[in-house]
Amino acid sequence: MRRRPETGRSLPDSRCRVKAMKIAVCGKGGVGKSTISAFLISTLAGRGRKVLAIDADPSPHLARLLGFNPEQVPEPVASMTGLLQERSGRDGPFYNMNPRVSDLPEKFLVKNGNISLMVLGAIQQGGAGCACAENAVLRNLLNMLLLSPDEDVILDMEAGVEHLGRGTIAATDHILMVVQPYRGSIETAAKIKSLAKDLDIKSLHVVANNVHDQEDIRFIQRETGMTPLASFCSSDSVRMAERDGSPLAGSDRAFAESAEKLIAKLEKLHGND
Ligand SMILES: Nc1ncnc2c1ncn2[C@@H]1O[C@H](COP(=O)(O)OP(=O)(O)OP(=O)(O)O)[C@@H](O)[C@H]1O
Ligand SMILES: [Mg+2]
Repeated sequence: MRRRPETGRSLPDSRCRVKAMKIAVCGKGGVGKSTISAFLISTLAGRGRKVLAIDADPSPHLARLLGFNPEQVPEPVASMTGLLQERSGRDGPFYNMNPRVSDLPEKFLVKNGNISLMVLGAIQQGGAGCACAENAVLRNLLNMLLLSPDEDVILDMEAGVEHLGRGTIAATDHILMVVQPYRGSIETAAKIKSLAKDLDIKSLHVVANNVHDQEDIRFIQRETGMTPLASFCSSDSVRMAERDGSPLAGSDRAFAESAEKLIAKLEKLHGND
């Protein structure tokens, strides 16, 4: 805090202001996006920050990993077919490109302490027809949530990134690509990297998961051409907590420490240190 010279009273110091971070967690199916998201959310909330957790997975289960009461958690917005059609104003091939969504957070957000959760879900593309109109509603809602000035946002994404649209991913501050030490996950990371390059995204990082040893980290580094910002070990406790359906926070101390380190690095990149 700086001091006002004549009175000695404190002045707000812009250097002390914590800027909210919008973080997207992406990567190949099953690499640990939701697991790592859950730890990041709990870490931020444990630091007294307000966190908005957005589950954009077509089979959402972040609520369970965070220990929300299932009875409290609304159905995913993406499954509200009637609502999405009404908002999209679909009329044959025409639909509203900028549908009204401002009232939806009030209906679909659930809170638990410092954590707010929005279960967005994702539209499962069937054989017939395009879901462009419904996706326009989801995208508008997501873009509005990402504008929230006072909350950190952790966006747990569907495998791949294109479905949300390029504008959405570009609206986040940091993109974390979760990678495991096997080729399939590295190939997906390469696709994400190329998309991020097209979008001129500056803060794109690899996070190594299910790491057994230093050779795993070296493999990821060599194959992605990026040094992982953090690495998470292979954890029986995390696996067991998921199996039992218990909240992940507190299940594994080493995992939680990795999440702390990752948040500290992101804070630094974000200018919050
Ligand atoms: N480091 C780890 N150690 C042990 N188990 C892990 C680890 N990371 C993830 N898992 C387990 O792997 C499974 C998949 O993890 P998770 O659901 O987080 O992946 P995901 O990328 O979100 O998957 P999806 O693409 O289906 O959304 C879960 O059962 C989880 O408990
Ligand atoms: Mg997931």
